[in-house]
Amino acid sequence: MSKLIISGQNRLFGKVSVHGAKNSALPILAATLLCDGTSVIHNCPNLLDVNAAINILKHIGCNCTFENNTVTVAVNKLCCNQIPSCLMLKMRSSIIFSGAILARCGKVTISAPGGCELGPRPIDLHIDALKRLGADVTEKHGFIEFNAKQRLVGTEINLSFASVGATENIILAAATANGKTVIHNAAKEPEIQDLINFLNKCGAQIFGGGTDTITIYGVERLYGCVYTVIPDRIVATTYMAAAAVTGGEIMLKNVNPSHLKAINSVFEESGCTVECNENSIYIKAPVRLSRVSTIRTTIYPGFPTDAGPLVLAMLSVSNGTSVVVENIFENRFRYVDELKRLGAKIRVEGRVAIIDGVDMLSAATCKCTDLRGGAALVIAALNAKGKSVIGDIEHIKRGYENIDYNLSLLGADIKEI
Ligand code: UD1
Repeated sequence: MSKLIISGQNRLFGKVSVHGAKNSALPILAATLLCDGTSVIHNCPNLLDVNAAINILKHIGCNCTFENNTVTVAVNKLCCNQIPSCLMLKMRSSIIFSGAILARCGKVTISAPGGCELGPRPIDLHIDALKRLGADVTEKHGFIEFNAKQRLVGTEINLSFASVGATENIILAAATANGKTVIHNAAKEPEIQDLINFLNKCGAQIFGGGTDTITIYGVERLYGCVYTVIPDRIVATTYMAAAAVTGGEIMLKNVNPSHLKAINSVFEESGCTVECNENSIYIKAPVRLSRVSTIRTTIYPGFPTDAGPLVLAMLSVSNGTSVVVENIFENRFRYVDELKRLGAKIRVEGRVAIIDGVDMLSAATCKCTDLRGGAALVIAALNAKGKSVIGDIEHIKRGYENIDYNLSLLGADIKEI
């Protein structure tokens, strides 16, 4: 297992480019298998999760290449409609491949996703929706088999929660279904709109992205196209928090500031200067960060759950007490014990974390428990006095391309061993 060695207290300064959004790239890669011909996806981040998605595509018979952040996927004849457990477990969001494979092959078998680092992550909404679109579902020996005797049939689906993954899975299954599908209480995240934009460019007829009602008119065929993935708003938040805890001043390039409104307002409240241009954000930290009013994670356009750990790490060196309430995942605070090793003063009571800001953190040896929790440790270590060692950084590599290189370009003392 690799480690990051970080000597904190260097002020970050300079420019950094934000890579493409993991959470867009994954469903778009799943969508490519619905298309005849070749899809070319630019701005695809080189991440463990993206590689896992490419391995699923290869496993079921697609020809894929991945070079310089561009993935090409050529679909001729699919040879397999099973995602084996080893690939399912590599990436929990592999569930979104089920809708696409089912639509393309009429059948798909997946292993039930195992327990998760963020608490139970059920897939009931996915299963119910695929059933409503006409699939028979059988669960046995840890496998779930979806079978459609004929082309899937459009229908009305009311999601009891605006699940990102379930909304994507329904879109993927319904894009080539027979007739019209309407998703009520759909997720509104920018990554959903990105998936819809890709599919529409391939010939789909999907309307209402970014609202809570999405209407999909199924088409017979989709054709591969050339598409560029949107920037990753959570990676952007990570660099902003890293700048904030070091009293830094950086310019983020290749960002979409309109996706970061809820996040930017928290940085501003903490005393940072945040200036947005069309594709860039300038952030300058104050001498001392201030506490902020209670943050409640919620669905888009509210404050995203994935940004919670990053901002919590930042607030651990603010002046005063702040509170973060986690409303999406039950068990998201596992990384807090690791942050405490670095001297953070945080109490967790159920879904609530109470952060008493300290003047400065101190170096420690700690381990990543999950992707964003791992990034929170990096942010904290950049503030800490002394040399920190962060273990199990494979979690971080699921969602960040070259984080050590980018931070060192900004002046951080960081290296991977
Ligand atoms: C996606 C993102 C993840 C982000 C999350 C919430 C990807 C690859 N991942 O995950 O980074 O943190 O959205 O913004 O895009 N739920 C159910 N039943 C289901 C599905 C979900 O109860 O069938 C619950 C989950 O347990 C969770 C909540 O709904 O409590 C949100 O999950 P969901 O929006 O589906 O998140 P993901 O798509 O897994």
